[in-house]
Amino acid sequence: MRSIVIISASIRTNRESHRAALFFKKFITENNIASAAMVDLHELDFPLFHERLSHQTNPIPAAIEFSNNIQQADGVIVVTPEYNGGYPASLKNAIDLIYNEWHRKPVGIVTVSDGVFGGTQVITSLQFTLWKMRAWTIPAMFPVPKVKETFREDGAPTDESTNKRAHLFMNELIWCMDAVEKMKAV
Ligand SMILES: Cc1cc2nc3c(=O)[nH]c(=O)nc-3n(C[C@H](O)[C@H](O)[C@H](O)COP(=O)(O)O)c2cc1C
Repeated sequence: MRSIVIISASIRTNRESHRAALFFKKFITENNIASAAMVDLHELDFPLFHERLSHQTNPIPAAIEFSNNIQQADGVIVVTPEYNGGYPASLKNAIDLIYNEWHRKPVGIVTVSDGVFGGTQVITSLQFTLWKMRAWTIPAMFPVPKVKETFREDGAPTDESTNKRAHLFMNELIWCMDAVEKMKAV
């Protein structure tokens, strides 16, 4: 079975974007799309970046686990809020820890805000960073505007249209994951 890791990027007190991460975990599992594991940066609580994991002499277990999770995943969904037009420091702090793990990794980006634009200004900076690291960001977006109106606290969507959008988004990610899998067999 395919495996997808969902990175929940916000570590903010009383964060709201985690609702979207909870939604995707449940959506992927309930629709038998893949196994879904949450990588919650709030829980991991990484120290501020000092060096890449591969260059550390005594890495913390959580960083090694993070590396293994990304390495082993067939695909990754990054759920990120928009902070002042960019993605949060917590996400860059984690992305930079690893490098080869991102190579040819299909990545879908879910952007979140409490406003009407759904955090879409994050896309260019996050896509560029992931491209630099040779990840394969998929050409599909999943903006979440007015996050508290879109999802309940447990991630349940308030509107059926969210499920329809999620299917379209997941189809793109799965296509890319399958393409990578096929190339591995060549
Ligand atoms: C530091 C900070 C900066 C923000 N900047 C933006 C912004 O540029 N555009 C936007 O639409 N919302 C912005 N917001 C609102 C967030 O999108 C909203 O609070 C969202 O819920 C944040 O995700 P989180 O609750 O998971 O941290 C900002 C919020 C914070 C805390």
